[in-house]
Amino acid sequence: MNEHEVRSLISQVETAVSGAIDQALPALTGADSVVRRSEHADFQSNAALALAKRARIKPADLATTVIEVLRADGNNAPVAEVSVSGPGFLNLTVADAAIWGQVAARLASPRLGIGTSEQGRRTVIDYSAPNIAKEMHVGHLRTTIIGDALARLLGFLGAEVIRQNHVGDWGTQFGMLIQYLDEHADAAWHHDQLAPGTSTVPALDGLYRAARKEFDADPTFTDRARARVVALQAGDEVTVARWRDIVTESEFAFREVYDRLGVLLEPEDSAGESFYNDRLSDVVAELTAAGIAVESDGALVVYSQEVTGPDGNPVTLMVRKKDGGYGYDTTDLATIRYRIRDLKADRLLYVVDSRQALHFRLIFEAARRAGWLTDDIDITHVAFGTVLGPDGRPFKTRSGDTVKLVDLLDAAVDKARATVAEKDHDLTNDELSQIAEQAGIGAVKYADLSTSRTKDYVFDVDRMVSFAGNTGVYLQYAHTRICSILRKADDTSAEVDPTLPLHPAERALALELDTFGEVLAEVGRLLEPHRLCGHLYELAKAFTDFYEACPVLSADAPARANRLALCHLAARTLRQGLNLLGIAAPERM
Ligand code: ARG
Repeated sequence: MNEHEVRSLISQVETAVSGAIDQALPALTGADSVVRRSEHADFQSNAALALAKRARIKPADLATTVIEVLRADGNNAPVAEVSVSGPGFLNLTVADAAIWGQVAARLASPRLGIGTSEQGRRTVIDYSAPNIAKEMHVGHLRTTIIGDALARLLGFLGAEVIRQNHVGDWGTQFGMLIQYLDEHADAAWHHDQLAPGTSTVPALDGLYRAARKEFDADPTFTDRARARVVALQAGDEVTVARWRDIVTESEFAFREVYDRLGVLLEPEDSAGESFYNDRLSDVVAELTAAGIAVESDGALVVYSQEVTGPDGNPVTLMVRKKDGGYGYDTTDLATIRYRIRDLKADRLLYVVDSRQALHFRLIFEAARRAGWLTDDIDITHVAFGTVLGPDGRPFKTRSGDTVKLVDLLDAAVDKARATVAEKDHDLTNDELSQIAEQAGIGAVKYADLSTSRTKDYVFDVDRMVSFAGNTGVYLQYAHTRICSILRKADDTSAEVDPTLPLHPAERALALELDTFGEVLAEVGRLLEPHRLCGHLYELAKAFTDFYEACPVLSADAPARANRLALCHLAARTLRQGLNLLGIAAPERM
């Protein structure tokens, strides 16, 4: 528990009910109190049903005893009323003063009273991982957005987050590209050769395609390109310098996309495939010595003990190819070993497309057999579904090419600009552009994060930037509305009077606000950001209901202050929530 932590009401109620159950049924001490939010009261517990069965007594009798214990002096904080309904459900209502108390306590805390459920857990997050000399495309959208949201959220919950950008910066394609550049000295790809402000990656991407074409068409070029790969891997000075140049140019372009997306990744987070190059032979030696990697047809492979292919044979990991080369599998074996041994990770997350599920399953299995990965280490392939085009198939351009990430972002920002401009506003052109950028980028991120991670979703810009429904723009707008109320109130004190009765709409909003920390902890455990999106959406709706039912600015003195406190807390919670999703919360739009 951190010094600013405010225990949520639900957890206080859980403690009270658990204590009462323990007293009523000493034989079953420590049973789960199963407290949930409820429509019939603030909370409901249905623990009595299952427990009575175990204790062979009537649920209603058990519930009655639990109530008696709860009603006895001092046992019930913060429960004000408790009753039985149905076969033995406990309906629990919390005291108004306790609810106001929570609002005041959260407002007084710089972190809204949120706990640090991930405290001290060293968590390595592998995300984004674009490929050098290629443009970032739609396939890098989800990993970048989800990975970054998790990095932010887990960091906020106290984890020691280490970001790892496993950039694709190594492999035979670089021999090909370098050879091609050498043979076409007039090809412009370096920023010195291009107009200022032009990204070099489209040029490199084009040259890479041209190189591939020549590679496939001209066998003599194929040979020269292969020789160049060998030179690169052998550390030939000129070749390595050229390669480094290409990497620098590409990383520069990635930076621009990251800045625009507001992603935390920094150059020092890049530990690309090349980083593992001189560790691969050790990895392979260790696996071979342990008898885990074995020879097969001149290559070294690991036969899975858990997964068989359609032919009934174990599927394999390619540890070393016949020609002595190492590939994607070997590099990922090295990532696990490095992250556990050198980075001393307690938790490893790989935020990568679900289509790589088998790859990670095999890598994890091998790492476990090698003894690198032990039971005290948590490892997860944080898999995600595909971004689909309007036709419901994996998103492609009209000509069938992969969609560039910047094009997607531009489309969303343009749409957002139009949507915001349509509204009645008094923004200057510059303000409008800035807000369009925040709304458009936020819309793309929110649409992605609010979809259950493993599902596919359709990239539908019109829906994303809509002011209605569960969208980023709706939440940003809800936040600006509260900001506008607070600006008009011009009162930052928001002193809470806990003796005031609660209006049902105030109650609903306050209880929703009180669960923010629980939701965050759950997202930290399950790695499912859509749960946070859902919560923020409920919060925004609860605020709307509250604002419709309870006048704020025109209310009289004590009620006005309490309502302003709710406004403050709602604005700060929305802002914090959006921030953890990596989404801007402008004050006007
Ligand atoms: N660069 C790869 C791609 O673009 C993704 C790498 C993901 N991370 C990993 N450790 N395998 O598909």
